[in-house]
Amino acid sequence: MSKKVGIVISGGDCAGLNAVISGIVRVGTTLGYNFVGFERGWEGILDQRFRILDISAIRGITHLGGTILHTTNHGRFAAKTGVGDKTRIDSDILKQTRDQLHKMKIDGLIVIGGDGTLSGAEQLAEAGVKIVGVPKSIDNDLSSTDKTFGFSTAVQIATDALDKIHTTATSHERVFFVECMGRHAGWISLYAGLAGGANAILLPEFYVNVGEFIEFLRKRQEDEKRSAMVVVAEGIILPQRLFAEGGSEVRLAGVSEFLMGLIEKAEPKRFEMRHVVLGHTQRGGSPNAEDRMLSKRYGISAIEAYHARLFGSMVRVRDGYMETIPLSEAVSNLKVVTHEDHIYQSAKKVGIYINS
Ligand code: F6P
Repeated sequence: MSKKVGIVISGGDCAGLNAVISGIVRVGTTLGYNFVGFERGWEGILDQRFRILDISAIRGITHLGGTILHTTNHGRFAAKTGVGDKTRIDSDILKQTRDQLHKMKIDGLIVIGGDGTLSGAEQLAEAGVKIVGVPKSIDNDLSSTDKTFGFSTAVQIATDALDKIHTTATSHERVFFVECMGRHAGWISLYAGLAGGANAILLPEFYVNVGEFIEFLRKRQEDEKRSAMVVVAEGIILPQRLFAEGGSEVRLAGVSEFLMGLIEKAEPKRFEMRHVVLGHTQRGGSPNAEDRMLSKRYGISAIEAYHARLFGSMVRVRDGYMETIPLSEAVSNLKVVTHEDHIYQSAKKVGIYINS
């Protein structure tokens, strides 16, 4: 009898999720598995909301953005409260999940998600469920893998936006702040900033010296460079800006507007400034070619790992190859920009102002 495997996608959506599903189902079917996809992540298991994922159900989904299974970053399975923090999932919820899977005769799960989702997966694996994880984050901030899908598309979207905003910045001789996602990691800002010809990039990894930054803008103005393109990572820490309670998972959008206010206060009417928050445009739309291929590889590797009975593991990319590591190692460390990073160094060498 063929084995039934459940697919769970949880956390924020991301370009490439459907291509992962497609990779799992296409290769898994040839290995003799059949699949159900749970809707709205873990909630789908608890609420028994799922759909059959056979070849006809996944035909033509690779290029589609978002996830056909829907997702949520709330719910009974939320397993993360802050950077590096994990909450224990209620043992009743773990038991209910296991019982539901047993009732449905599900052999095990392939779980696609970020660090919160994967730490939930780790706890369920410890409770005896067969699980293979797939990392997901447009922020590319998981140290356990070289690359996550959705990142390349997000960088492309941010770069395209910079190209468009550039023309208005130049025509109107304005200082434009373009705010990118990434939470505590500045990868999208750094890559898009270099690719999109930014004059300055403000990263969350390093101290932002507002006075020094204003000096940089003033100097540009004195040198007759009347416009400026500034990429601002959403997670930069600014003086006097307090986040709502709730640790690091609070909504971060809006820091560029706050920064503009600080500059205006220090130098009233000196600069004509505007800000644009790219927000969820960076997660939206079709995955680009690179992300489609990466997603397929993740999906294929996940079902192959499952078939090889490498349960309690996550698939990852290392030096171009797909391999597995234990789930416990998968979610432990954040990957952030360092002064040694070669893209950071390139941006510095071409004269982009970066806070450090
Ligand atoms: O972690 C992915 C991410 O896209 C962050 O870059 C961003 O801060 C966050 O999710 C936004 O989440 P939500 O969709 O809940 O607003």
